[in-house]
Amino acid sequence: TTEPIVLGIESSCDETGVGIVRGNRLLANAVSSSMDEHVRFGGVIPEIAARAHLEAFVPTLQAALDTAELTLDDIDAIAVTSGPGLAGALMVGVSAAKALALATGKPLYGINHLVAHVGVGVLEGTILPPTFGALLVSGGHTEILKVTSLTNDVQLLGSTIDDAAGEAYDKTARLLGLGYPGGPAIDKAAKEGDRKAFRFPRGLTLPKFVGNEENPGKHRHNFSFSGLKTAVARCVEHFEANGEEIPVADIAASFQEAVVDVITSKAVRAMQEHGLKTVLLGGGVAANTRLRELLAARCGSAGISLVVPPFSLCTDNGGMVAALGAQLVADGVAPSGLDFATDSSQP
Ligand code: KG4
Ligand code: ZN
Repeated sequence: TTEPIVLGIESSCDETGVGIVRGNRLLANAVSSSMDEHVRFGGVIPEIAARAHLEAFVPTLQAALDTAELTLDDIDAIAVTSGPGLAGALMVGVSAAKALALATGKPLYGINHLVAHVGVGVLEGTILPPTFGALLVSGGHTEILKVTSLTNDVQLLGSTIDDAAGEAYDKTARLLGLGYPGGPAIDKAAKEGDRKAFRFPRGLTLPKFVGNEENPGKHRHNFSFSGLKTAVARCVEHFEANGEEIPVADIAASFQEAVVDVITSKAVRAMQEHGLKTVLLGGGVAANTRLRELLAARCGSAGISLVVPPFSLCTDNGGMVAALGAQLVADGVAPSGLDFATDSSQP
């Protein structure tokens, strides 16, 4: 038997991604980002992202096919992100995927973006047990997942009730005048600062949210970053009001410590509660130096193994969509047909 070749298409935010896998081997992972066009607005503008996908799709598809040295005739199935994400952006990728499926007669799978992030776990070089946990942290999501089966059993253990972690980085960086995207800027500034300079709030860690063993609180695995953002704003205002210089590096380091402390402690706790021995890290914030350091340390002490895929597979990309698509094909899951909708708020 020859392993199926699957094309994966991703367009849920600012990255146009087309990836190709054969079985569990990644053959190509072409990505075009419209981030440069959003920088001057300090955030992703949905309309601009959608237009950029329209322009970038065919060249990105061609780049992926060229890298894999394949043509569309060689593709056995097509997978595309149907949600969650920006509605207009999703529609470009899904429309393109439907057109390709209609023209080539290949089966089409509409898939969930969050599950696709976890789908990189099937690619060769990644060793995961049958049931594992995942921590996804990016500009759009902050989730803890329990993955029993990629095709039909992915459980959401916790998520943010307000801002995503990356969004908190971006908003805080703006407050500190560090530019956009804020994650890398804060990561860098924090290296010169004292992470104990300020004690910023750790969202949803109070006993009333966390509960206890008999009565677990419903927010024990959830995140909140809006209080932290406000605390940083008050801190900056305090220095401004006194005409003092803002200690940017110390604030950045202390902010980062608050985010990373909560994320890592909650992730480890969720793994322990569910008896999960392995956690996969994904999303753009996975690039964060302090997050990697503290998560590795805390997983280490808890006897949990941490899997961090290459950064190109952590940020939004088509390879992860193709990888999940290949798993669906391998598990004999029926294709989606050509009439499914996009769902920007799909859980
Ligand atoms: O996964 P991604 O490329 O796009 C989505 O949001 O889906 O993630 C982008 C986010 C941005 O919020 C950016 O500020 C954050 O990831 N980020 C970081 C770092 N590099 C990127 N956050 C913290 N530390 C970093 N080194
Ligand atoms: Zn994503």
